[in-house]
Amino acid sequence: MARLKTGVLISGRGSNLKALIEACRDPAFPAEIVTVISNKADAAGLTFARDAGIATASLDQRAFADRAAFDLAIDETLRAAHVEFVCLAGYMRLLSDGFIARWPDRIINIHPSLLPAFRGLNAHAQALAAGVKIAGCTVHVVRPDVDSGPIIAQAAVPVLPGDTADTLADRMLVAEHKLYPLALRLWGEGRVRIDGDRTIIAGHDGEAPPLLINPPY
Ligand code: GRF
Repeated sequence: MARLKTGVLISGRGSNLKALIEACRDPAFPAEIVTVISNKADAAGLTFARDAGIATASLDQRAFADRAAFDLAIDETLRAAHVEFVCLAGYMRLLSDGFIARWPDRIINIHPSLLPAFRGLNAHAQALAAGVKIAGCTVHVVRPDVDSGPIIAQAAVPVLPGDTADTLADRMLVAEHKLYPLALRLWGEGRVRIDGDRTIIAGHDGEAPPLLINPPY
């Protein structure tokens, strides 16, 4: 089976990128990462990608007239690498509507909240301020509104007494690193169908998921 040629956009640490790269090391995994692009030349994730033998590029937004021109350069870099599908992994720049339109339902993102709650920046702090007892993370298809789009997979993460945004973020990352490879696998296996604002995941037998973990694939 041909593996889905995936490009990953990052801005920093790249721990989710690392989880995706690790998953793709398995020859049976239905996706491969063919390029990693950062808008920050010093993004730590770039080093990890290079060490894994993956082509990387960094583009400096200051060299471009506007967001559209910058996004066009990202688009060209992805296409030059024959990318079919894009994962955002801590990519801290808003994508232009034009870019998203050029990759219709071909971009996914991971966000550290149970969307549609707590969109945007500081999702962990937002969750703590709201007093939720269960937080979580979401992988979703990217649509023009920030942190919106059909949800592919979510994982629940408990909020514990005394949590700070940092301790919650650390616990969240453990879940993120399982969830993102899971979502990419589902996509690569052709099991994700977009149905308006939702997704339908093929091949689930309808059994109730165990507490706190959804989906149980
Ligand atoms: C993660 O918390 C992710 O959910 C959010 O940005 C963070 C990126 O972390 N979109 P990393 O660069 O993958 O370590």
